[in-house]
Amino acid sequence: MKILIAEDDYVSRLLVKKAVKKIGHDVLEAENGRIAWDMFLEHEPDMVISDWMMPEMDGIELCKKIRNSKKKTYSYVMLLTAKDKTTDLVEVFNAGADDYIIKPFKPDELRSRINSGERITKLEREHHDMQEQLIRKNDKLDETLKELKSTQAQVLQSEKMAGIGQLAAGVAHEINNPIGFISSNLEALNDYMVDVNTLLDHYQTLEKKINSGGDSIRDIKIQVKIISEFEEQIEIDYLREDIPELLNDCKEGTARVGRIVADLKSFAHPGNDKKMLIDINKGLESTLNVVYNELKYKATVTKNLGKILRVEGFPQKLNQVFMNILVNAGQAIEEKGEIKIQTGTKGSNVVIRICDNGCGIEKEHLSKIFNPFFTTKEIGKGTGLGMNIAYNIIQEHNGTIEIESEIGKGTTFIITLPGQ
Ligand SMILES: Nc1ncnc2c1ncn2[C@@H]1O[C@H](COP(=O)(O)OP(=O)(O)OP(=O)(O)O)[C@@H](O)[C@H]1O
Ligand SMILES: [Mg+2]
Repeated sequence: MKILIAEDDYVSRLLVKKAVKKIGHDVLEAENGRIAWDMFLEHEPDMVISDWMMPEMDGIELCKKIRNSKKKTYSYVMLLTAKDKTTDLVEVFNAGADDYIIKPFKPDELRSRINSGERITKLEREHHDMQEQLIRKNDKLDETLKELKSTQAQVLQSEKMAGIGQLAAGVAHEINNPIGFISSNLEALNDYMVDVNTLLDHYQTLEKKINSGGDSIRDIKIQVKIISEFEEQIEIDYLREDIPELLNDCKEGTARVGRIVADLKSFAHPGNDKKMLIDINKGLESTLNVVYNELKYKATVTKNLGKILRVEGFPQKLNQVFMNILVNAGQAIEEKGEIKIQTGTKGSNVVIRICDNGCGIEKEHLSKIFNPFFTTKEIGKGTGLGMNIAYNIIQEHNGTIEIESEIGKGTTFIITLPGQ
């Protein structure tokens, strides 16, 4: 060991030095506290044996400085003192010293105290190493946890993307329907237009005949006959009824496409992630329009939307909650079922109930529904994230989400959100 002796009294210092050297340790010497502190910083000794009373800096102050120093390995500190009252000794230990020896001391006692100090220093250092290792392991654990969290965020994002892909397919289908009948109506209108043009030609010929004055009444009558025969041929009465109907259907179709696009925009507008006051009924309507394609073959959807307060939050996130619940409801129904959407008020809260008469949820599954990756669906059909996402979003809005379910009868999701 490297031992630093701090002692202003030359004879005392020599005595300690001899005792230390006898048991084979290296010695550093300082004749006051200030020098001892400088040497401590420079040489980082394993042990310091210091007199209490010294000029410039006393042993207690030196000991406190050593304990507060940033030195990594442990240094054992023993104070030499002529004081032996309990209050004095308390001061020694309070300063962070490990041991003390009362002057005058016997070299044997000093040596055995140094030996015991050496053992304690070794133990102290092992303990310190173990602690360091633990801290390193903890840091690594923290890092792994961070990585896990970012992976989870990525999984959530890809789930969202997969959902959007599925939605896009549904929406394309919804838009294709009206586009289909609009284009077939336009074709029919085009044929009608050809007939109407020919009819107009006949009328213009008649007009010319009348205006020229050269044609006989007989000629004019022939032209009128041509016209009425053509009108019969093209079924002019039906045509006049059908044209406004076809045009009306086209108008309705384009309005439907417009509505779907608008809903889709309000459903997932990129960058639209500001907190705002939301009309939950509107959110439910536009979400329903977006997922309706998935539901319509499975269920009739009835809405009973009450007069409710607005809710402060992120509209597209709440829409995602509604979508996840509605898609689950559709998936829980085997054939023609029913989905009911209800909104109402309870105190100052807005309550949303989405109810299906599908397969229901097993009692022992109820507590797991909101866990990430809990799914009863076959691989590829469910990731088990829908309800976990919903739970987190509702929490973020200071609300609650509850489930009532009975096997074979159906499931109701009840969301309560604070109204504004
Ligand atoms: N309306 C419901 N009726 C019956 N079971 C349901 C209903 N809603 C949720 N569940 C059950 O809760 C489980 C978890 O739902 P969650 O939406 O989190 O995942 P998922 O639908 O399986 O997969 P995905 O991540 O694609 O949504 C489902 O697998 C299902 O067992
Ligand atoms: Mg789901």
